[in-house]
Amino acid sequence: MQAITPVNPSADKAEKYELLLKQAEAIVSSESDLIANMANLTALLKDSFNWFWIGFYRVDTESNQLVLAPFQGPLACTRINHGKGVCGEVWATGKTQIVDDVNAHPNHIACSSLSQSEIVVPVRDKAGEIIAVLDIDSDQLATFDEVDAEYLQQLVELLR
Ligand code: SME
Repeated sequence: MQAITPVNPSADKAEKYELLLKQAEAIVSSESDLIANMANLTALLKDSFNWFWIGFYRVDTESNQLVLAPFQGPLACTRINHGKGVCGEVWATGKTQIVDDVNAHPNHIACSSLSQSEIVVPVRDKAGEIIAVLDIDSDQLATFDEVDAEYLQQLVELLR
């Protein structure tokens, strides 16, 4: 009987991210408009992983809120206050957050009841200021891990 090689889901995911990063670099290096680049990055992520919701929220310094920016997926909340929801927490702390079960996270904002887990990554400008967050929601529990965090952080670095 032939030996079965165990599938390593993380390796498979890392390979997808490596390819995605190359595509993203090519796109971002030929375009300086932030919104256009955010839009294409969400499209690339949707194509590669088909998660439930993938999108950016931008920091609006006038209202001191996060405002919905390019995304792929169903209709979403448009404004999030500083410190509110996972997105608002990441804006306030500057640290990537992985939430395995959004229903067990007291501060989570449910834009859709189908969302089960999420990852939120801060997006910084050249000066290191947080200008946006990348929010990705899954309709499955515990979808995201440190591999996602590492690659998504590399991805948003391209927007600096
Ligand atoms: N769940 C996010 C809100 C944004 S939507 O899910 C698209 C949060 O808790 O910040």
